[in-house]
This record gives sequence, structure tokens and C-alpha cells, in this order.
Amino acid sequence: MKRQKQLYEGKAKIIYSTDDPDLVIQYFKDDATAFDGLKKGTLVDKGVINNHVSTKIFQHLEENGVATHFVERLNDREMLVKSLEIIPVEVVFRNVAAGSLCKRLGIEEAKLLAPPIQEFFLKDDPLHDPMINESHIKTFEWATETEVAFLKTSGSKVNQLLTDFFKARGIRLVDFKLEYGRHKGEVLLGDEISPDGCRLWDWKTGEKMDKDRFRFDLGSVEEKYQEVYKLVCGDG
Ligand code: TMP
Repeated sequence: MKRQKQLYEGKAKIIYSTDDPDLVIQYFKDDATAFDGLKKGTLVDKGVINNHVSTKIFQHLEENGVATHFVERLNDREMLVKSLEIIPVEVVFRNVAAGSLCKRLGIEEAKLLAPPIQEFFLKDDPLHDPMINESHIKTFEWATETEVAFLKTSGSKVNQLLTDFFKARGIRLVDFKLEYGRHKGEVLLGDEISPDGCRLWDWKTGEKMDKDRFRFDLGSVEEKYQEVYKLVCGDG
């Protein structure tokens, strides 16, 4: 499958059409942004790592009954996926307090969250992805009630599966963001699942292994992405 026309360029990926109208190619770039594009950089091989890590995770989710847009990884930087009409709602799950939750509510970082917290954000960069609730989603028709219910149950299942998946590899899944879209009457998990959109801490040392290293200039960004890659995609 070869890429044809560029349909969309995002901050970390480019979407290309293919000769099949139901399929598109996600091309993973090395560009990194944070704080709605305010901070920009390039991380060597980030695109390759995120493509491989996402592939492994989508395969694991599919094997466990989660329908995703993943079809196949074509090469180091390209993934063939089902074309989606993206639902403009980011679904966040939090198992451990970090990031905007701590800022917003004055919660101490690293506090265990039981049960996990689930939040919705509007996918809208100019508005800085504001937090929204089910009432906003319903009134503004960003998703139907049935879809919202699905996002919650599917997201919760993904959280359980990924928590166990990362734990088996010595990584604590602190929080993460999911995006879903519609494809032929079905809602599928889309986008990517990688250290860009997850907080991942070394289970033993608590060291951060995700994009927070880039966001807050913690150093060794590429090294930590490589470590995640090895732990997730290595044969062990
Ligand atoms: P937050 O603590 O900044 O709200 O982020 C929660 C999780 O969502 C974290 O794992 C990072 C991820 N995330 C994205 O993938 N994209 C975004 O634009 C933001 C703000 C967060």
C-alpha cells in the first residue's frame, strides 16, 4: 500500500490517502510539541519509536477485544489504519496524580488514584483543549449518548489492559489520552498510543520515561523513549 495525497498534517503525524478510500496512512514525524505548540523540538527517531510502540499496543488491544483503527505497520514510520471521522473528544484516564490534575486541584504528584479518574477534553488547539463534561458533549453534539457510554467503558477496559501490559514490563501507567473515531458505523480507537500521549514511570525508581522529559527539560529524552521502545517491543 502506497501513500497518495496528503490529507492532514498534525503536530506529530501526517495523514495520507491510499488507493483504498477506507484506509489511510499515518506517517510518524520526529517533531515534538508541548503546551499547544508553544514549545517545539525534534527528538531523534521519536517517530520510529512511536510507530513501533503503538503497533505493539494496538495489536495487544485487538487481541483482547478492543476494536482499533490499526491495520498493519508498513515500515519504520508508516502505519496503515482505517480512515476515521474523528470524535473531537480526548478521553483521559489517570491512575496516579500528575500533570494538569495536580495543577487544577492542588493534588500532590504521585498520589494513587483509586478508582482511576476519567476526564474528557475538547480536541481544539486554539482553545487549548479545554476540559468538558458529558453535558457539553451532548448539547454540542460532539458525540451521541451511546458513543459517550462506549468511550467510558472502552477507555476503562484499555486502562486495565495497558496498566497490566506496562506493569509486566516494569513501567507504571500513570495516565494517558485516547482518541476515538467513527468508521462504517463502528467506533474505533484511533490516533497512537506512545510515550507522547501517556505518562510512563519506571516502576522501581519512579523516573519519568515519557514526553514530560521534553515538556519540562528533564534531559535524556531520546534515551528514555528508546528504553520504553526496548521494554515494549523487545522480545523479552
Ligand atoms: P494532562 O495532565 O496535561 O491533562 O495530560 C493527561 C494525559 O494526556 C497525559 O498522559 C498526556 C496526555 N496528553 C496528550 O496526549 N495530549 C495533550 O494535548 C495533553 C494536554 C495531554
